[in-house]
Amino acid sequence: MAERVSLALNTTTTTMASSLRTQVSASRLLRFSSSGSKLSIPSSSLSFTRSLVSSPLLSQKRCQAALVNRSFSSAATTHCTAATDPEQLKSAREDIKELLNTKFCHPILVRLGWHDAGTYNKNISGWPQRGGANGSLRYEIELKHAANAGLVNALNLIKHIKDMYSGISYADLFQLASATAIEEAGGPKIPMKYGRVDTSGPHECPEEGRLPDAGPPSPANHLREVFYRMGLDDKDIVALSGAHTLGRSRPERSGWGKPETKYTKEGPGAPGGQSWTPEWLKFDNSYFTEIKEKRDEDLLVLPTDAAIFEDPSFKVYAEKYAADQDAFFKDYAESHAKLSNLGAKFNPPEGISI
Ligand code: HEM
Repeated sequence: MAERVSLALNTTTTTMASSLRTQVSASRLLRFSSSGSKLSIPSSSLSFTRSLVSSPLLSQKRCQAALVNRSFSSAATTHCTAATDPEQLKSAREDIKELLNTKFCHPILVRLGWHDAGTYNKNISGWPQRGGANGSLRYEIELKHAANAGLVNALNLIKHIKDMYSGISYADLFQLASATAIEEAGGPKIPMKYGRVDTSGPHECPEEGRLPDAGPPSPANHLREVFYRMGLDDKDIVALSGAHTLGRSRPERSGWGKPETKYTKEGPGAPGGQSWTPEWLKFDNSYFTEIKEKRDEDLLVLPTDAAIFEDPSFKVYAEKYAADQDAFFKDYAESHAKLSNLGAKFNPPEGISI
């Protein structure tokens, strides 16, 4: 029989147990066999608990006290300021995989990470005024920017994971979720690092208008204006546009796309919208091959997507990626990692790999 460790419960813990049971990954972390006032945790599930108690992040006395004396949910909201714990990041990554497997939400998690990072302005030196991957997208004021329509759903999807890991910033969680979604959809491994520091309030959100429009008067110029401001180049623009191999556009969110197509009417996830590719949960180079061939009116091509085959410099990369998926994966992984670090302040400064 598995060795069990019993923790004395305070009166709030029964509520905690029932709320945790409803969370996707709680069963992986804790198995409750409540008898009287005891909470039993199988030893196989203890590594996570140990990592919380022994992590540098939680070494501060008040954090340990929070874990021992309070329910998990209240510990999760305790603010701790030391560096991120790699064990928590790894555990959260498994929870994200579970979420992806049940909700098929890869695309919206990728868009979440991109819209947090994509506000970066290289011409502003101060953090967090420069914008970027700093978790500011969790605030309502920024979620209400027109470009972020629908992203509140992404935040709601990962909130229970955030609540379980007080040691992981929103900024890291958004980027972890995005990179994991790309990898789980069949895309390349992204050379990520973690330790991003979060902004501390809605007053630190960037002003509206830093993300690209899908239908500006001169799409190629607009893409350069926006992505160059982030310090990215033509190759990054084309490679990153390839993320539209995943997902759909919904008229009720962005105003772009058809309400449904033959590829989206059955879901998975909430049905509807218009995808760029037939298999919109699979990360491959079909975004480029479909735009090049323009063979199917059920597939979406935004004006900015069309620009990558129209502009002479963009076209070099678009043609290369349409012909060679390995080349696309290599460049995409590099550009995605760059994007995920934009504007971020890391603690420790060199970041953490997992
Ligand atoms: C190049 C400029 C870009 C423009 C103008 C643009 C525009 C859009 C628009 C209009 C949508 C539809 C949103 C909706 O209706 O729900 C969308 C979705 C999406 N975008 Fe972009 N995007 C751009 C770049 C990127 C980049 C760089 C990434 C990631 C690296 C990305 C990832 C996604 C994903 C995955 C979706 C699907 C979301 C879902 O299915 O819920 N986009 N984008």
